[in-house]
Amino acid sequence: MSGVQRSVGAYGPPRRLPHFVLRRMLDAVSPGTMPDEPVAALERRVAELLGKPRALFFPTGTMAQQVALRIHAERTGRHAFTAHPANHLDLWEQRGYAVVHGLRYQPAGEQYRLLTRADLDEVKEPVGALLIELPQREIGGFLPTWEELSAQVAWARDQGAAVHLDGARIWESQPFYDRPHAEIAGLFDTVYVSLYKGLEGVRGAVLAGDEATIEYADVWRRRLGGAIPDAWPLALAAMVGLDEVLPRMAAFRDHAVAIAVALTERGVVQVLPDPPHTPMCHVLLPVPPAAAEAAGHMLTDEMGVVLFRRVGAESWPDRCRVEFTVGEHTMGFSPDEVVALFVDVVRRAS
Ligand SMILES: Cc1ncc(COP(=O)(O)O)c(C=O)c1O
Repeated sequence: MSGVQRSVGAYGPPRRLPHFVLRRMLDAVSPGTMPDEPVAALERRVAELLGKPRALFFPTGTMAQQVALRIHAERTGRHAFTAHPANHLDLWEQRGYAVVHGLRYQPAGEQYRLLTRADLDEVKEPVGALLIELPQREIGGFLPTWEELSAQVAWARDQGAAVHLDGARIWESQPFYDRPHAEIAGLFDTVYVSLYKGLEGVRGAVLAGDEATIEYADVWRRRLGGAIPDAWPLALAAMVGLDEVLPRMAAFRDHAVAIAVALTERGVVQVLPDPPHTPMCHVLLPVPPAAAEAAGHMLTDEMGVVLFRRVGAESWPDRCRVEFTVGEHTMGFSPDEVVALFVDVVRRAS
């Protein structure tokens, strides 16, 4: 099948704005209705939502987080930071924190489980910051309990270290804690949030924190080439996301849980975490990664559906895991339909 693809378990396909976002953006830029400075409006809105004095747009989370950690290092005079071993900065950013900013990374805890307060006792080098990612994407989107999270933050405070939140999926995490965004963000000195992913925007990020930190972050944004003057389409798309998609996060999480129940009952695949803590989870398939990837492509070619995009290897060579993300794109698929698609993938890949 060619032409239109329907995504089931991943944003996209390919990175394309949903029609309702495009329609709202067109309304916003029609003559006479272009809002003043969409980027400034977005920054104010995110700051208010997160209960922070100020927020600043960045073209990417990659840039925003490196800047935040650099500032914490300069302030504390400690150039090391600690984080879970599967953090985005160390895995996916070509070690920019070290090469560009001269920071050192001290891993804490273990790759395949959540970071715990006890793990932090093993961090022997004084650190300038503790970086926490909510949820921990690379292990399936697990979230620590509120008590555990608070204990980790308290550890950092005792050390005189700052606490930074990788909130790429904080919008998706909020229903789990059932507390206002500002209360969650209130645990952290600096918070990065993504404008695409869960919000289904184009791209972009926001860094929020106190006045002085964000003012200095603005200097680094310019130094790194991130002060782009034409970011308004990204800001508009993000504001549509805040209006229309953010209120849907609990519904997405509930649908992910219903899908996980159906998958677990069928028994062909396993879900992690079970039940999912957020709208995302990992699905473990009893087939090798290359075979799963090929079967996923067959499904797309023949039926026009994208069940997953990322396929990760497991330590066991004839198993793999895929990232499954529930969003508006998934709501038209019943749990039984999703189960049938996974069963089909496993059959084709076996
Ligand atoms: C957990 C996490 N942190 C940070 C980022 C970086 O975001 P960006 O793509 O805006 O640089 C990502 C992107 O996938 C992510 O998943």
